[in-house]
Amino acid sequence: MKVAVIGTGHVGLITSATMAYLGHDVIGNDLDEEKIVTLQRGQAPFFEPGLTELLEETLGSGKLRFSFDSQEAIRDADVVFICVGTPPKASGEANLIAVESAAKDVARYASGRVVVVEKSTVPAGTSARVRRTLERERPDFIDKFSVVSNPEFLREGSGIRDSLEPDRILVGAESPEAFEVMRAIYAPLVEKGAKLVETNIETAELSKHACNAFLAMKISYMNALARMCERSGGDVDSVAEVMGSDERIGRSFLNAGLGYGGYCFPKDLQAFERLASRLGYDFGLLKEVERINDEAVDATADKIIDVLWNLDGKRVTLLGLSFKPDTDDVRFAPALALGRKLQAEGATVVGYDPQAMANAKSEMPELEVASDPYTAAAGSHCLVLCTEWAEFKTLDLDRLKQAMAYPLVVDGRNMFEPEEMEKRGFSYYPTGRSPIV
Ligand code: UGA
Repeated sequence: MKVAVIGTGHVGLITSATMAYLGHDVIGNDLDEEKIVTLQRGQAPFFEPGLTELLEETLGSGKLRFSFDSQEAIRDADVVFICVGTPPKASGEANLIAVESAAKDVARYASGRVVVVEKSTVPAGTSARVRRTLERERPDFIDKFSVVSNPEFLREGSGIRDSLEPDRILVGAESPEAFEVMRAIYAPLVEKGAKLVETNIETAELSKHACNAFLAMKISYMNALARMCERSGGDVDSVAEVMGSDERIGRSFLNAGLGYGGYCFPKDLQAFERLASRLGYDFGLLKEVERINDEAVDATADKIIDVLWNLDGKRVTLLGLSFKPDTDDVRFAPALALGRKLQAEGATVVGYDPQAMANAKSEMPELEVASDPYTAAAGSHCLVLCTEWAEFKTLDLDRLKQAMAYPLVVDGRNMFEPEEMEKRGFSYYPTGRSPIV
């Protein structure tokens, strides 16, 4: 099928490349001309494992092209995926101006039947607005348009695998023809056993927000438990094991720590809460999830202040700056929120990250960065593990300790083994577990 993808962010670019890999003829489109030129050269604008190789393969086979000309992208498409950003407004509501503008482009340039797919995370009810926009812009053509909600569930860092081996593919549509087209689009994955779930549009839109909010809730539940464990002598990781062995609960997303960040959970949770309020329902649970998430950073900052006393004139090292491992994305990263708090208390904050240093520096120019963990730790009074990159598992702990002014480690992701830290002579402060002093 001929596919246009509007927007080449994490979702749009991975959708473009994987759709081309599945055999469709894809044009990825973005307003950012410079980005399109970079992509045409086969360079990914962000770090995502396997993406450069996939771009090389699909650009090489001619299945994938990039264009900043929306008309060229949309004109012959059977399916247009809208993958534009939906950033938060000051109120927390999702700003849907880019979705409207993409719908207008589709109305303007479509030349035949086209399925318009919302892939960006949008509040329930958006499809009706997209449909109205198409109607207003192209009243003579309205029976040629079908609107579909096909939310994306990929995670940054494992986006390609998540797209090619999804837990489920969700399609919400209003016409049998639209379902047919979406079945054809995803046929290569369904043939390999992927589960296709078909619902009405509002259910699909709502389900995406419901999943993200629920996962965020699991994390906040564990962070609240971490506070309880710290006060009572319990061990939150063991509690997670006990809870996770109950198959009704499941072990994943039960890791306490610095909390969730990124460009999905924080903004989606707020947008979902705002949607509930607009629908006349007070979904107070979501506000509590957000409060507990903020508290996770505050609790870690308090722990550091408690350990170091005054932060003025002290040096604190942050290991890991991205919002999670295997990405260079620092948007709403807990590490940077923590760094800002420590700086406000007078500390000199120095960070190291395997991929996210440039992004962290542009988001937080006052942050010092170092080229490796040992240089970052040099003269440091406290080292904080913020993001659990695999390479931190194999750090030479003796070398790290030697470099530091005080041998203090705060583990914001419970990555280190307490016994090992004790053996190496660190004072070790994990999250939701007993410290070793
Ligand atoms: C999330 C969802 O997992 C995807 O299914 C969804 O498609 C995506 O948002 C989206 O809406 O686009 P992502 O933001 O890439 O994906 O990252 P996650 O792996 O979900 O992690 C989110 C945050 O939760 C990270 O900061 C991570 O460190 C934190 N986390 C995760 C915990 O603190 N504890 C855990 O147990 C798990």
